[in-house]
Amino acid sequence: MCGIIAYTGSREAAPILIAGLRDLEYRGYDSAGVALQGEANAASAVAKRRGRIAELETALRERPPPSAHTGIGHTRWATHGAPSDANAHPHTGCDGAVAVVHNGIVENYAALRAELAGRGHAFASETDTETIAHLIEDELEAGRDLLAALRAACARLAGSQAIVALSPREPGVAVGARVGNAGGVVVGYGEGEMLLASDLAALLPHTRRVAFLADRQVVRVTAAGASYASLDGAPADVPAHTVALDPAGAQRDPYETFMLKEIMEQPRALSDTIRGLTRVEPAGLHLDDLGRARPWLTRIERVLLVGMGTSLHAAMVGRWYFEQIAGLPADIDNASEFRYREAVLGPETLVVSVSQSGETVDVLEAMNVARARGAPQITICNTPGSQTTRVAEGAVLTRAGLERGVASSKTFTASIAALFALALETGRARGRVDDGTLARHVRDLAAMPDVTGRQLEAFGEAEAAAERFRETRHMLFLGRGPALPIALEGALKMKELSYVHAEGYAAGEMKHGPIALIDRDFPTVALAGEHALRAKIVSNIEQIRARGGEVLAIVTEGDEELTALADAALTVPRAPALLEPLTAIVPLQALAYATARLRGCDIDQPRNLAKTVTVE
Ligand code: F6R
Repeated sequence: MCGIIAYTGSREAAPILIAGLRDLEYRGYDSAGVALQGEANAASAVAKRRGRIAELETALRERPPPSAHTGIGHTRWATHGAPSDANAHPHTGCDGAVAVVHNGIVENYAALRAELAGRGHAFASETDTETIAHLIEDELEAGRDLLAALRAACARLAGSQAIVALSPREPGVAVGARVGNAGGVVVGYGEGEMLLASDLAALLPHTRRVAFLADRQVVRVTAAGASYASLDGAPADVPAHTVALDPAGAQRDPYETFMLKEIMEQPRALSDTIRGLTRVEPAGLHLDDLGRARPWLTRIERVLLVGMGTSLHAAMVGRWYFEQIAGLPADIDNASEFRYREAVLGPETLVVSVSQSGETVDVLEAMNVARARGAPQITICNTPGSQTTRVAEGAVLTRAGLERGVASSKTFTASIAALFALALETGRARGRVDDGTLARHVRDLAAMPDVTGRQLEAFGEAEAAAERFRETRHMLFLGRGPALPIALEGALKMKELSYVHAEGYAAGEMKHGPIALIDRDFPTVALAGEHALRAKIVSNIEQIRARGGEVLAIVTEGDEELTALADAALTVPRAPALLEPLTAIVPLQALAYATARLRGCDIDQPRNLAKTVTVE
């Protein structure tokens, strides 16, 4: 979950590392640090501070580092050892011969630490990462070069890791390793300079030519280029390609937060995604990245969709699409639960993983289980080249652009659009979707960016509604049918942005327990669009109101009856039944945003969270 950056070239390294860390801060913000390589054979200059990157910058201003053209940096989401200066990365061995930044967990770190301490190594932190530095130091002492020392150290580590290191013994060199699914190591090819980073966001200001390390691969970069090997030392060929992501997409201005920018960007994100996958006139689909998965669309008997968090909610919407459009039995599963069950599946089940980052460890581990069972796989992903796109036989890429807010918004709606297109493609392949049906669905989908755009013009309505929830401590979000995933997602947004305890529930379940919670201090948001089994939701609203509970209803434009029945209402434009989730989520994103703002929360970097969860 942590952010990693490395630079080697002819420019001053420190400002590049700091800018890179800012681009990666959404991956963790417990502490930040850099190691800069000055002259050969001198220890690396390390500066690190607990807290945000601004603290590190203050430290660098107070004690300016030596001029350096090679360096590594890290922004931390704490696992082993509390957030503190000492536990911040980079970590060094005893004599400063190596500096290491790390993402992942060294599961056998206690045993390694005891062994290393027994050999006289002195530890300066409580982290698992520091054991890696001491292991590499021993290997360097034994005469290995830095890359060989890193490989040897990796061989001793249990668990999944992404590691980047440098040593003053090899000026101008940085090395990196990926073992398992603790997160990516992306290699950026600049003009006379090279970079390594945990994800693309930090590389895009410098280059769009990148290569992704696969599991059990290592890389050595100098200003002149990169060389790759597998963990056992065999040379590896890792092709570089140019990513079509716009570096400007990584900028926040003129919005006050990335989250607001990304909510507002949804019409564009949807439009780019839909245009990348469909054609309206004549109606057609071009899911060009389905690759080896395509023939399976006619052979499979069921679909299993997996994901985590917001992406799992998108998968829940996708289940409706596979059932209703493609006529296939479809289930969803939380990836972290799926991987630990004896799930019964094989080549008859298409596994569809949804992951905006393509690097979420639970999703990747679930995909490994599915692969071991022989299930064909397609991933819905916003990050070309990421690990899910490599594990799956095929991909449907969303084109939402980089998402920087820790809480997902535009990638949720883009994933839903991609799932709709995939269900259509599947229905088409199986002879279930005829030309007329295809044309109607594609036309409906293509209209959604405009519908969403009009809806965002009414963002201010959510701000007024949020006033009600400024002091609220608990909330219920209710939905039925395709609105259930939206209720769950609305509650998740409210929790993570504003720290209000929000429960998403199937409205039909309410009478089976949660109704006991309802009183005047426990408001409900009811998803009551015209296709969300409206009549049933009306009964739920009556039951809540009868018990003194306050109700904010999400209703279709012009629904006077429901507007009058609820205490307050936010409207959504009329949309086709299957696409109503795309409209229904927008007021809930806006509501969570506005509530968080009123409560003074840090919207782009909510407490305890990090984007791209690469530890279990
Ligand atoms: C919530 C959120 C997370 C992610 C989850 C999966 O706003 O962003 O719940 O959806 O961590 O991430 P990806 O989609 O990258 O696999």
